Amino acid sequence: MGFEKTIACIGAGYVGGPTMSVIAYKCPQYKVIVVDIDEERIRRWNSDNLPVYEPGLDEIVKEVRGKNLFFTTDLEGAVKEAEIIFISVNTPTKEYGVGKGMASDLRYLEKAARDIMKYANGDKIIVEKSTVPVRAAEAISKVLSGSKKYHFEVVSNPEFLAEGTAINDLLYPDRVLIGSRETPEGIKAREEIVKIYENWVPREKIITSNIWSSELSKLAANAFLAQRISSINSLTPLCEIVGADIEEVSKNIGLDSRIGNKFLKASVGFGGSCFKKDILNLVYILRSYGLEESADYWMKVVEINEYQKTRFVYNMIKEMSNTLADKKIAVFGFAFKANTNDTRESAAITVVKKLLEEKAIVSIVDPKALENAKKDLKDVKGTVFYTEDPYEAVKDADAIAVLTEWEIFKKLDYEKIYELMRKPAFIFDGRNILDHNNLFRIGFNVYPIGKKPLTHFEKI
Ligand SMILES: NC(=O)c1ccc[n+]([C@@H]2O[C@H](COP(=O)([O-])OP(=O)(O)OC[C@H]3O[C@@H](n4cnc5c(N)ncnc54)[C@H](O)[C@@H]3O)[C@@H](O)[C@H]2O)c1
Repeated sequence: MGFEKTIACIGAGYVGGPTMSVIAYKCPQYKVIVVDIDEERIRRWNSDNLPVYEPGLDEIVKEVRGKNLFFTTDLEGAVKEAEIIFISVNTPTKEYGVGKGMASDLRYLEKAARDIMKYANGDKIIVEKSTVPVRAAEAISKVLSGSKKYHFEVVSNPEFLAEGTAINDLLYPDRVLIGSRETPEGIKAREEIVKIYENWVPREKIITSNIWSSELSKLAANAFLAQRISSINSLTPLCEIVGADIEEVSKNIGLDSRIGNKFLKASVGFGGSCFKKDILNLVYILRSYGLEESADYWMKVVEINEYQKTRFVYNMIKEMSNTLADKKIAVFGFAFKANTNDTRESAAITVVKKLLEEKAIVSIVDPKALENAKKDLKDVKGTVFYTEDPYEAVKDADAIAVLTEWEIFKKLDYEKIYELMRKPAFIFDGRNILDHNNLFRIGFNVYPIGKKPLTHFEKI
């Protein structure tokens, strides 16, 4: 069957893979080719063991792979065949040179642009799907202007999906944002991208804008989301001292329609590959224009998050008689959130490293993220066990630290767990997902986030 058009995507990661799978699923008239330099990743996209875990992803990939969705390492072939090329490569925080630790590392993006130029056989629309600094489209256009033969129109189409709910977010997005130059070529190119999404997204949810607003909107959206988490987390130590309950506070303020109730859940801190990196990038941009006050404001969002993770471990040390040495801690969850195997910037990484520095023995349970956990901790000194069985993890453990809000942790037999643990048994619920009163009744000493602890110790 002949296809109406061919779309390529450079980067088969957590964004490129699911996004292109949904485009292929919703647009059988298009051929979609996803390319990556990572051969192992592509091998897994072509297998039954996909490199990304997302509810609903397996089913969609099975339905369309080999029909109109293809995963390959053949970049040249994909570039030649496609009229529209999405770039969805990683844009991590720079680890060297100017802007180290703050700015986005754009080398993968630039490499993708250069490869497109090298292999192109005609005019192409380039879609910036990666999250980038404001005016990155200009930088990409500059690289692509090296081609004297063909015209490459760069369009911004930031991705707002959240890991764990990526497929649902892609199928039913709150909005799709497409920014372009406001020239006839720019507007024509953005209409081409609108046409793709129109296959399943209501037209009023497809927003078009100027290209710099589009780029900045992505950074701003992540900064605002992270800021809500840090705002609520910043009040948790006060709650623990004065006896207020952060969940009651969240509920009470969230009922105000001006505030809304989303993203007000207190926790051990946010993780994920995006929030921290995107805020640091925003701060870097603000500072580069001399906007120190605005930069300081957003930097605090990251600092509060670091504080929350450290505070969690310090609290464990303090409550467990000021020493964790040789004590066994069962870590419930290593993924940065539930329903994903992604562990990038997971709070668990910081917490586990600090526990090991204290010479604790750590036993990690996670239904999907153990493979990544092992990679994250491979150079870390100390004793770590990995298991998918919570009951094994808690055997002779002194404490449980809940770090990911997986549903399964709510449904365990905590009477049995209590029996298996050493006494006194502690639970530090970094996600406030467990039934604290019931745990206390069973005999645990319970330390939620932002609530008074429930303990059996007598004050002396
Ligand atoms: N993960 C998220 O939740 C999320 C959400 C929205 C936006 N974003 C943004 O999307 C972008 C991608 O994020 P991700 O989580 O998918 O990253 P990822 O690291 O999972 O995937 C990026 C992929 O690009 C590949 N790649 C890099 N350079 C390449 C090249 N020159 N040619 C071919 N392949 C190349 C890498 O091998 C990797 O597989 C980032 O800019 C990120 O900020 C991520």
